[in-house]
Amino acid sequence: MEYINNELCLGPLKKSLSVLTTDYMRPTYVYDLDFIAQRYKAMSGALKNTRLFYAVKANPNAQVLQKLKSLGAGADVVSLGEIKRALESGFQPQDIVYSGVGKTKHEITEALKLGILQINVESLPELERIGAIAKSLNKKAAVAFRLNPDVSIQTHPYIATGLKDNKFGMELSSLPKLMACLDKFSDSLELVGVSLHLGSQMLEFSGYEEALKKLKAVFIDLQKKAPGLRKFDFGGGLGIFYDRTDLELEESLLQDYAKITLNVLGDLDCDLQSEPGRWLVGHCGVLIAQVQYIKTTSEKTFVVLDSGMNHLIRPSLYEAQHRIMTLKKQNESHTVDIVGPICESSDVFLKSVSLGQVREDDFVAILDGGAYGYSMASVYNLHELPNEICI
Ligand SMILES: Cc1ncc(COP(=O)(O)O)c(C=O)c1O
Repeated sequence: MEYINNELCLGPLKKSLSVLTTDYMRPTYVYDLDFIAQRYKAMSGALKNTRLFYAVKANPNAQVLQKLKSLGAGADVVSLGEIKRALESGFQPQDIVYSGVGKTKHEITEALKLGILQINVESLPELERIGAIAKSLNKKAAVAFRLNPDVSIQTHPYIATGLKDNKFGMELSSLPKLMACLDKFSDSLELVGVSLHLGSQMLEFSGYEEALKKLKAVFIDLQKKAPGLRKFDFGGGLGIFYDRTDLELEESLLQDYAKITLNVLGDLDCDLQSEPGRWLVGHCGVLIAQVQYIKTTSEKTFVVLDSGMNHLIRPSLYEAQHRIMTLKKQNESHTVDIVGPICESSDVFLKSVSLGQVREDDFVAILDGGAYGYSMASVYNLHELPNEICI
């Protein structure tokens, strides 16, 4: 993000944001599709011989999905709603990997009828359920075991998923029971893959490397028992910086991540798959909001926006800090708390930050809102959902 001619601009093509406020009705997410393409190309170039299945939960905007599909991505989904959105946006059933801990009977039935590429299984009862439904439909379900390696990564506890006490994935000790279930449903289940997802916002990779090595050994062992096993899905989770813009350092972390992945898995006889979300779209979106009030108390000054935790919940959910900039460059700045309109004390974007001098009706951009922004938005307090624009 930078100012050109005093206007805040987004992405590699430096697109000005002010023009988008001409017909402003309500808070608006803006996504730069060229920026997304740049990120996708960087990641697919680094992760050689890996098929990228974009994690739709990060940003399910139809134009974003169409763009990623046009670049060659598959889709990683976690609900029938996401399956439908992916199909409407041009993905084929064979482009879709279906993850998630709570798949219902209806969702599994629909996924099997559609012929989804692969279902990442999260528990023994789920495997039983898929086996029984596939049998009743006279189909053979292609499943991957999502294994929980019990390895920790440095991230917020709410987005770590690879530890024993997380609900995600299956313990390695459950493999004998899983294999017995495959035997029981040998006509309706085929083990095609092993999958892993350690969590989100990974910026350091020692735990990730340990998990890959652990699961590589399991994969080799399973391949002897399951001849159809040919995919290793190493999940998503590569992090981005929210406190600064340093795309070069992020690309160098991407290279480290890719090197570790390919060093550990490169000699396996299998197809590699990944499920990135945040890294592809996080920086490529901003949330434009309008200043409603400058409220001064004896303690501090609050800038009250028309958008808050209802539109971008990451600050109140994970204590995430999204930088905020005025759309028009201001020469003077002041120290303020930037807050939303919601009736919760946690509805705060930033505390005691320096913001360009703003007045009522001015616009600000909340940065790095391309991932887990709109997709986690709600109508809490019955405010409308934000608008979305792709540029
Ligand atoms: C199973 C799975 N795959 C991929 C992702 C994408 O993670 P990220 O957006 O951090 O890359 C997630 C995110 O929670 C996930 O749960």
